[in-house]
Parts: sequence; structure tokens; C-alpha cells
Amino acid sequence: MSHINIIATDIQKAASLLKLGKLVAFPTETVYGLGADASNPSAVTKIFAVKKRPADHPVIVHLGHLNQLTHWAQNISSAALKLAKHFWPGPLTLILPKAANVAEIITGGQNTIGIRIPSHPIAQALLKSFGSGIAAPSANRFGQLSPTSATHVQADLGTDIDMVLEGDTCTIGIESTIVDISSGIAHILRPGAITAAQISQVLQQPVYYLDRSSVRAPGMLLKHYAPRTKLEIVPAVLLKQKINTLLTQDLKIAVMARHPANFVHPNLKWHMMPTIASEYAHALYAYLHAIDMENPAIILVEAVPVDEEWMAISDRLQKASA
Ligand code: TXA
Ligand code: MG
Repeated sequence: MSHINIIATDIQKAASLLKLGKLVAFPTETVYGLGADASNPSAVTKIFAVKKRPADHPVIVHLGHLNQLTHWAQNISSAALKLAKHFWPGPLTLILPKAANVAEIITGGQNTIGIRIPSHPIAQALLKSFGSGIAAPSANRFGQLSPTSATHVQADLGTDIDMVLEGDTCTIGIESTIVDISSGIAHILRPGAITAAQISQVLQQPVYYLDRSSVRAPGMLLKHYAPRTKLEIVPAVLLKQKINTLLTQDLKIAVMARHPANFVHPNLKWHMMPTIASEYAHALYAYLHAIDMENPAIILVEAVPVDEEWMAISDRLQKASA
């Protein structure tokens, strides 16, 4: 059987499992999602049980095609449609007024819904085969790191789910940009690979960052996207001094820096991170997952540039260090 056929069989199997109300993890270009039939509230409820996620946190509904949008959302503004047409399929989630029939478990009781059309070929194939909306948060336990490979999903959720569709590692590697455009004005709820400047450029309108305290989104909780190991962000100029202090305390430390190691020590594991933001994002969770397995006392991360293209990374690092 050819590679394509094997994938086609897996996709069909995954789509039938979803129809039966089962849980299927699948790759997207951002991170792996834990999918359930978005039209089946009891299937969606299982996601919350497996993730140990509080029931009032809404989940994103993934679609295969723009023509399904009005089944899930209504009063779609021209600004929202512009973003949808420009960035989908892609790493963007739009918060829109929900359609009347959407189950409460999807929206966490809010009157809005998060929608995304992902571009990953396996996600696309699954969504096309399934033919309707797939509710999917990231495929990790609540508050943990998002998975960027099938191995991460297996390690975290293992036998609690019915199937993992395997794809390559996620090209983007951090979660989608979330834009609340339910009022017609764009507010960024979670920064991602698509930047405020890109959104503003498409809309020809200013874009705002929403006051975090007013939104109900788990990604907004201070401690989220966190490795098990304590993580500290250290300005580049203080890194060496900080490392020295910890080494004198006989602690095992991991360093994630954007420059080569400037000294060697048996208790020090130096990880040279990419200097390009998109490459750094792609690698970030894989490094954190791998470092967690080595179980150091602390991860020191060299602070990243204060720059729009580093903003999503800086956001995840800050949450991981909270
Ligand atoms: O890249 C991604 O967005 C991945 C892939 C699988 O699509 N999904 C993801 O889902 O990161 P999750 O559940 O881990 O994070 C989605 C965020 C949550 O913070 C959730 O609260 C927020 O989206 N969200 C979903 N619907 C919302 C709504 N109606 N209003 C405000 N926030 C919403
Ligand atoms: Mg998540």
C-alpha cells in the first residue's frame, strides 16, 4: 500500500471514530489538537474530562471550508470575513457571534464562538472527510505544554484517547493567534504567528490587545503553557552571573540561549536556540518537552527581543515562568 493510501485509510478511520463520539488527536500547523464532533455535546464533554479542563473554558471549532462558517457563527462582519478570506486556512482563530444551535459546552456559556480553518494537510483531509466542525483544544492536559509531535500527545494523553493521527512536527509550533472580531473591531486575545501588524494591514484598521482580566480563555491564565520544570527568563547580560550562582549551589541547570555556550560544566546543559523568531517558535515546545524529561532543577531562558515578531514567543515564555 502506498503512503497516500495508508493516510487515506487512517483519515477515514479517524472520521468514523469522530462520528461515533470518540476522541481523535490530529496535527495542525500550530500544535496538535484533541478533536471531537463539535455537534455532539457528550463527545465534547469527553475532551474536558481527558484534559481535566474546567467546563467554562470554550473550545475552538475547526472547519474544512469557509462555506461551513454560517452553521457555527452569525452576524459575521465584513472585517471578520476579510480576515477569514485572507488568513484561512492558517494559524488564526476568529472569535465570532455564535449561531443559535451551538452547544453550550463549546462556548463555555458565552455568546461567541472560536473558529479556525487549519492548513495542515492531515487536518484538512480529516475535516473534509468528516464534513462538519471538529471541536479541538490543544492535545495536552490542562495547563501543560502544547504538543507539537504525535509522540508528545502519546506521552501526555496515551490510552485516554481513541486515536492519534500522526503528522510531521507542527511547522509553526505555537498556538494560533486568537482575534476577537465579534464586534467588528479586532482585539487580539492571544498573540501567535500572525501578528497585529499583519491583521491591521489587512483590515486597514487599528488592532487592539484585549485586557486579559476580562476574558475567559485558559490561555489567558497566568500559569499556562508550562513545563514541569521551573523556568526563569534572564536578560542576556545577567545570564552568566545567574548560571554561576546556581552552579555553586550544585544545581543541575538547562539553558536556552540564542548564542553559543560561553562555558562548560557537568551540571550545565546548554541549548542553542534559533535566532530567527519563526524557527524559535517551531522549536520551543519540543525543547521544553525534552528538557522536562532530563529533569533539571531549573531552565534559564535568555530573554528574547522586544519586537513584534517575538511577541508570541515572549508571551508563552512569560506564562511558562509564572
Ligand atoms: O493553535 C491552536 O489554536 C490550537 C489548535 C489545536 O487549533 N488550539 C488551541 O486550543 O490552542 P486551546 O483550547 O488550547 O486554546 C484555545 C483558546 C483558549 O484560550 C480558549 O479559551 C479560547 O481559545 N477561546 C475559544 N473560544 C473562545 C471564545 N468564544 N471566546 C474567547 N476565547 C475563546
Ligand atoms: Mg491549550
